[in-house]
Amino acid sequence: MTGTDLIRLELSTDAFEQIAAILAERTGIRLEPGTERLVVSRLSKHLRRLGLASFEAFLEHIRRPSGAEDLAAMIDALTTNTTRFFREAGHFRILEQDIMPRLAQKARAGGRVRIWSAACSSGEEAYSIAAVVAKCMPDVGQHNFRILATDIDSKVLKAAQDGRYPATAKRDAGPDFAARLFEETRDADGMLRVRAALRKLVTVRYLNFMDPWPVSGPFDVIFCRNVAIYMEPDTQMRIWSGLEQVLDRDGVLFIGHSERIGPPLSDRLELFGPTSFRRPGAAMSQ
Ligand SMILES: C[S@@+](CC[C@H](N)C(=O)[O-])C[C@H]1O[C@@H](n2cnc3c(N)ncnc32)[C@H](O)[C@@H]1O
Repeated sequence: MTGTDLIRLELSTDAFEQIAAILAERTGIRLEPGTERLVVSRLSKHLRRLGLASFEAFLEHIRRPSGAEDLAAMIDALTTNTTRFFREAGHFRILEQDIMPRLAQKARAGGRVRIWSAACSSGEEAYSIAAVVAKCMPDVGQHNFRILATDIDSKVLKAAQDGRYPATAKRDAGPDFAARLFEETRDADGMLRVRAALRKLVTVRYLNFMDPWPVSGPFDVIFCRNVAIYMEPDTQMRIWSGLEQVLDRDGVLFIGHSERIGPPLSDRLELFGPTSFRRPGAAMSQ
């Protein structure tokens, strides 16, 4: 135990506001007033690791070039990464029944198909997409069909890259998709591994919505769910417009069930299904 383990860390209003401002500037995420305790609980271990006795000292540290790694660790600690396989399951039914027939046809005719899981967290969303794609198109590996999974948080990106999940993931996937998703034997530590064929379909990359986006669209399908909800309305708007620009003419955009795309984008896209959108006149599956 070190000296700083014994200190109860106090977060002043000023330090909270400074942390909130840095987070908003770097990620677009808004820290609501009243979340001070959450900030203390998520950052305390980093202050202790650094042997710092106050948030003021921590702020000073992360503003120096030598504190860049700890600034990234702070951002990782303050992002909310909640996710699960087949979250908001209706979207995956739409993908399977209403979108995949057209995309399978397109890929088999030699076309390029791209799906983007933007803000993918630890990868459950991207692998759920991959499982649906492989179910609809067992020959997908022979075609130009890829899934891009991006996030800002390095620790979830590593988990997404590994594709290893606790046994509870089977329950979220349901029996049909669990068998499609995971290798039959568990790892020594009881973890489930996503099948190699599905991992091969998914490319995992760092992407911060606040920086230029190193993606090459157009995307036939974009899942951008449960991330904009943490952001200010103008940042949300910038994300939606950016996504519109890389969405294929016939593409479909899925957002989280508690999210909204407001005007002017809502005037340019039409509802395809619950919280899913496309351009008017977009091609449909037969
Ligand atoms: C709640 S998770 C959503 C995961 C998944 N899309 C789902 O709906 O289950 C939100 C994710 O957004 C990521 N995120 C937050 N700010 C971001 C930003 N500025 N750029 C990219 N990703 C960001 C977080 O790291 C987190 O993993």
